[in-house]
Amino acid sequence: MNDTNRAITLDEFVILREKDFPHATGDLSKLIRDIGLAAKIINREVNKAGLVDILGTTGSNNIQGEEVQKLDIFANHEMISFLKSGGQCAGIASEEMEEFISVDTMVSRNAKYVVCMDPLDGSSNIDVNVSIGSIFSIYGRISEIGPVTSEDFLQKGLKQVAAGYVIYGSSTMLVYTTGFGVHGFTLDPSIGEFCLSHKNIKIPEDGCIYSINQGYYAQFEEGIKAYIRYCQELGSDTSRPYSLRYIGSLVADFHRNLIKGGIYLYPRTTTAPNGKLRLLYECNPMALLAEQAGGLAIDGASSILSLQPETLHERTPLIIGSKRMVEKVKEFLLQEQEILAG
Ligand code: AHG
Ligand code: MN
Ligand code: MN
Repeated sequence: MNDTNRAITLDEFVILREKDFPHATGDLSKLIRDIGLAAKIINREVNKAGLVDILGTTGSNNIQGEEVQKLDIFANHEMISFLKSGGQCAGIASEEMEEFISVDTMVSRNAKYVVCMDPLDGSSNIDVNVSIGSIFSIYGRISEIGPVTSEDFLQKGLKQVAAGYVIYGSSTMLVYTTGFGVHGFTLDPSIGEFCLSHKNIKIPEDGCIYSINQGYYAQFEEGIKAYIRYCQELGSDTSRPYSLRYIGSLVADFHRNLIKGGIYLYPRTTTAPNGKLRLLYECNPMALLAEQAGGLAIDGASSILSLQPETLHERTPLIIGSKRMVEKVKEFLLQEQEILAG
């Protein structure tokens, strides 16, 4: 609350935060506000998805060969449109586009940032009215002039200057970090503004929820299978057995675990040796948020944020959430390796 005794809006908050950084130019704040604007438009369409002809698939597949929902295309289009007209974004990579695009509008001539995004995450849940989201990751561009290059996008997650997501759930929230804590804003539909509702979110060190698509159990490596059995056992030391909660939207599963404490796993399987999730616009942004909130994100062995991306759409296994729970999985995976090494 501010001195007028009303909630602080996202725009007010980013401006207030800027004052703490005397050298800040305000460009990053403007970029986050542009994403917030696009999110409001996407939210409007998501909310009426059951009413209009926007529901259903386009009948085409995206570059990963997955079915593309109409709302995926709409969300991609809105994000690009706001990022182009906002003037702070020099280039965009998206789950829905095979190649990145360079933004060359008049207003964006001096843009310093590139954005990687999953415009609509969990899209298989659209038709059944279950929470979905949008994910974004922001880097400073490396190339100095002209069109952006692949080098601008293929940066380690450690280099992100900001990351966040929007969850279209029972209420709509925008959660972001610029490397100084994680803050959450809930959309107040009566005024059409994101209002600060969760300042400086910290993920509990430990939790009692695990989120994984257990249907793939037979395809997981032994360390993951052993961890799943551990979650299910009665334990006197912890609150085991844990509850299994899996929505099938990374944003929604991550958000719940962030607030309540828990772990989300999308490990490698025999048919998907690198897992399913994309490093640049799913894993890296979530990993930065997790670490900023006091949690951890690994691919099994290494920190997600330390991985050097080679291609725009590469995948990586993801294990993310409460610190102690992620460390426990790492222990199980190490044990498995030791057994294999004999
Ligand atoms: P998207 O809708 O952007 O393709 O992402 C879906 C992802 C992620 O959100 C979710 O956690 C995971 O796919 C679910 O995959 P499974 O159905 O294999 O569990
Ligand atoms: Mn996704
Ligand atoms: Mn998507």
